[in-house]
Amino acid sequence: MAMDGDTRPNDLSAFWMPFTSNRQFKKNPRMFVSADRMHYTTADGRQVLDGTAGLWCCNAGHNRPKIVEAIQKQAAELDYAPAFQMGHPKAFELATKLVEMAPEPFTHAFYTNSGSEAVETALKIALAYHRVRGEGTRTRLIGRERGYHGVNFGGISVGGIVNNRKFFGSLLTGVDHLPHTHLPAVNSFTKGQPEHGVELADELERIVALHGAETIAAVIVEPMAGSTGVLMPPKGYLERLRAITEKHGILLIFDEVITGFGRLGSSFAAEHFGVMPDMITCAKGLTNGVIPMGAVLATSDIHDAFMQGPEEAIELFHGYTYSGNPIAAAAGLATLETYREEGLFERAAGLASYWGDGLHSLRDCPHVIDIRNMGLIGAIELEPIAGAPTKRAFSAFLKAYEKGILVRTTGDIIAMSPPLIIEKEHIDTLFGTLREVLNEIQ
Ligand SMILES: Cc1ncc(COP(=O)(O)O)c(C=O)c1O
Repeated sequence: MAMDGDTRPNDLSAFWMPFTSNRQFKKNPRMFVSADRMHYTTADGRQVLDGTAGLWCCNAGHNRPKIVEAIQKQAAELDYAPAFQMGHPKAFELATKLVEMAPEPFTHAFYTNSGSEAVETALKIALAYHRVRGEGTRTRLIGRERGYHGVNFGGISVGGIVNNRKFFGSLLTGVDHLPHTHLPAVNSFTKGQPEHGVELADELERIVALHGAETIAAVIVEPMAGSTGVLMPPKGYLERLRAITEKHGILLIFDEVITGFGRLGSSFAAEHFGVMPDMITCAKGLTNGVIPMGAVLATSDIHDAFMQGPEEAIELFHGYTYSGNPIAAAAGLATLETYREEGLFERAAGLASYWGDGLHSLRDCPHVIDIRNMGLIGAIELEPIAGAPTKRAFSAFLKAYEKGILVRTTGDIIAMSPPLIIEKEHIDTLFGTLREVLNEIQ
C-alpha cells in the first residue's frame, strides 16, 4: 500500500479503464488535464478541439462558469440529502424545468445517475405500469439490433451490440429484437433521414403475431442510434413504430441519452421528429456531463397509474441513493439555464446545414464508404481493412488526436457530436484535419 509522502510516479495500472484497450492505452496514455469551452488541454500541453462533446455529453462546452459556480455553491450549502422519503428543493425545481423543456406529454421525471440506469428504470416502470393496471401478462421487452442502451442487464438484453452481450450469460428472458435500420446499399451518403426502410417497422407486427400483444410490455429504441455508428431513422419509421405500439397497447420508450438536449436542434428527438413515445430516457447533457445524472421522463398516464392505494404506501419500489442528488440537481439547473440563455438548441439547428455540408465534403477522401448527418451529429463510415475490422477507424482516431482533434470511433465508423457552442471555424478545422487524417492513414 502507498504511504503518505510516497513519491512514486503516477502508476496507471490500478485503474481498470472502461471500454478501453487498457494495455495499449497504458503504454501510450492520452491524458486531458483541463478544458475550456471547445478545447481540451493534454498533459503535454497541447490543445485538442472537442469534436465529440466529451462522450456526447458536454453540450454547452467545457468549464462553463454558471455550472461551475452552481456546483461549488451547492457543495458548500447542502452536500447530500436522503433521496427516499425526504427531499430538497432543487430536485423538485429541476424536475419542473425538465418537463417544461420537454415536449408536452411529459409531465414527470424520475432521477437516475446515468443513462444505463435510466434505461433500467424505464424498463422496470413499463413492466410495473402494466402490472398495476391489471395487465401483468405484459412482460416481454422488445429492443432493436445494433441498439445501445447502456451496460446494465436490462440494457444489454434489449440492446443489440454483440460484444456488449455475448460475454454476459443468458441476459433477461422474454426479450426480442426488431431488425436494425442500416441499409447502406440504398441509403448511403444520405443527408438527414434516409428514404428507404420504413417497412422495417412492420417487423414489430411479426413479433406481436409471434408472441401475442398481451405478452409485450414495451418497445425501446434510440430514435437515432448513436453508439452503434449514428444510424438515422428512415422517413416514416418512428411514426409507424408509434402507430403499431399504440394499436397493441405496447409502451414505446425513446432512449434519448444522446439525442436529448439539443443534439438534433430540438429539446429531444421526440420533438424533432414529432413522434411522442410514452417514456424518454435521458442523461449526459442533463448536467452537461459534469456530474452523473440521468432521468426518465414519463407521461401523466404512466405516472398516474401508480398513484393509487393508501396515500402512505410507496407507489414504486425503485430508486437510487443518489436519485436527485443536490449537487447534480444544481448542475442540471445551471445547465438547462445555460442552454436556454444561450439559445443552444436553436444554435445547433442553425448550424446543422453548415455542419452537414462540411461533413459530406469528405466523401471523396480515401476509405470513405458512407457519410450520415443530422443536427450536430455526423458519422463517416470507412471500408474496414480486410481481416482487421475496427483497425482503420482506430488509427484515424489516434492520428486525429495527434493532430489536435477529438473524434470517436465505433467499429469502422468515425462519429462526431461537438458541443453546441461550436463555431464555423471549428467546424472547418475539424473537417480539414479529418481530410488530412483520411489521406494519411492506411
Ligand atoms: C442511447 C444510450 N443509452 C444509454 C447509454 C448509457 O449511458 P451511461 O453511459 O450514462 O450509462 C448511452 C451512452 O452512450 C446511450 O448512448
